[in-house]
Amino acid sequence: MYKVRYIPSEYWFERGKRYKEEFRPNKYSELQERILLDYLKNILSSFSTVLEVGCGFGRITKLLLSNFPNILEYIAIDLSPDQIENAKEFVKPAIDTKEHNPLNFIVSDIQSFQNERKYDLVISSEVLLHILPSEIEEVLIKIGDMSNEHIINIDWYEKKTPWNAAPHNFIHQYEKIYRNMPTISNVYRIPIVKRGSWFRSLDTKQSLFHACKRH
Ligand SMILES: C[S@@+](CC[C@H](N)C(=O)[O-])C[C@H]1O[C@@H](n2cnc3c(N)ncnc32)[C@H](O)[C@@H]1O
Repeated sequence: MYKVRYIPSEYWFERGKRYKEEFRPNKYSELQERILLDYLKNILSSFSTVLEVGCGFGRITKLLLSNFPNILEYIAIDLSPDQIENAKEFVKPAIDTKEHNPLNFIVSDIQSFQNERKYDLVISSEVLLHILPSEIEEVLIKIGDMSNEHIINIDWYEKKTPWNAAPHNFIHQYEKIYRNMPTISNVYRIPIVKRGSWFRSLDTKQSLFHACKRH
């Protein structure tokens, strides 16, 4: 079968130039953000340092900084310089009101990001599904090593990969990979779904994955 060649760095470098202007908030992104906020507020007891992997134009960065005033340090990385420039502008209103600016943006892919620090929360939304299958395990181990409490990723998840999956989207077995990591104690998967009558239910086909570090 013909498959378009996907080279992640080239693809995201180019796509990052127009990602923000093409993004339209919709009922799927609203549900995703609501479930993420509810989960962070109700399940994670507290976190004050955050590393965000693949922050894009800062959608989740702004959401977290606006809703969790106790964040003291927030590092947001993305491989696309254009996404980072847009994120600086987009997140500005959420930090202008703070006495201390907790936020630092870094242009880097996660694979080459060097940092000895550990963060209470490492979060990544709609990024890991774009990592090549040959690299996903190594990337999850790396983000696991950078956390001292929680790792949360939101990604596409279905039981089977549909035949028409785009070349840059992959379904990875996140739970299985996390469970095989000796530093992880528990793993949870929360489907991002709104249940209701047939015309009110909404299935984003995404899940929130939460891995907890062993103490
Ligand atoms: C679909 S966007 C999601 C952006 C944002 N997290 C959100 O949920 O709105 C994917 C982002 O991941 C970034 N990205 C892809 N692969 C990456 C990698 N290996 N390391 C860091 N960032 C990456 C892309 O540049 C892009 O900004």
